[in-house]
Amino acid sequence: MKQITVTAIITLLFAAFSFAASAQTNQRKEQNMKAKKTLVAFFSRAGENYAVGHIEKGNTHILAEMIAAETDGELFHIEPVTPYPDDYTECTEVAKRELNVKARPAIKGDIKVEDYDIIFIGYPNWWGDMPMPVYTFIEKHSWHGKTVIPFCTHEGSGLSGTENKLKAACQGAIVLKGLAVRGATAQNAQAQAKESVKNWLSKLQY
Ligand SMILES: Cc1cc2nc3c(=O)[nH]c(=O)nc-3n(C[C@H](O)[C@H](O)[C@H](O)COP(=O)(O)O)c2cc1C
Repeated sequence: MKQITVTAIITLLFAAFSFAASAQTNQRKEQNMKAKKTLVAFFSRAGENYAVGHIEKGNTHILAEMIAAETDGELFHIEPVTPYPDDYTECTEVAKRELNVKARPAIKGDIKVEDYDIIFIGYPNWWGDMPMPVYTFIEKHSWHGKTVIPFCTHEGSGLSGTENKLKAACQGAIVLKGLAVRGATAQNAQAQAKESVKNWLSKLQY
């Protein structure tokens, strides 16, 4: 009997120590991620939107701000020199033409990606791909040793194959698992969108 009690106490103590050690490791990982210099670069288009009408702030823009707030990241808006048409149908036509010819539209300003450890890259799903100005941005920089984390908004297609496209475009970077949120959710159900962001980030050890 005495032997059983001693064994039970040892087992309990061992379990308690293991639990405390694992909690500490998680906390350390979280501190490590937040200690890294983080950039949240995103493309997003305000104007007429298919699912949510006329919007003042793009859906991906809203998501980018949530991610920057949670990660202490710096925001950079990838904006084309020539804005896309406000009209939704016209915009889809311009975007399709650009995709077909692999255009690299000029973008306004830049930020030194090379100064950051972790770079979140956000974009709307456009024809199953990233808008071409995102490629313009990517191709201006060196990605060796960087951690890239994609996120997108969409209306049904999710990330499509964009994680793999990012792997090919950001040569030398590690690309982690991305997040896809419906544009309508980012725009009209922000508490739900924030919950998705938090769950995803916690899986990435934030
Ligand atoms: C040019 C264009 C192409 C689109 N193509 C797709 C698509 O292939 N799949 C999809 O789910 N949504 C597609 N959408 C919808 C957008 O991904 C969605 O509305 C997104 O939330 C817009 O983000 P933004 O407001 O940040 O620009 C497209 C929208 C546009 C304007």
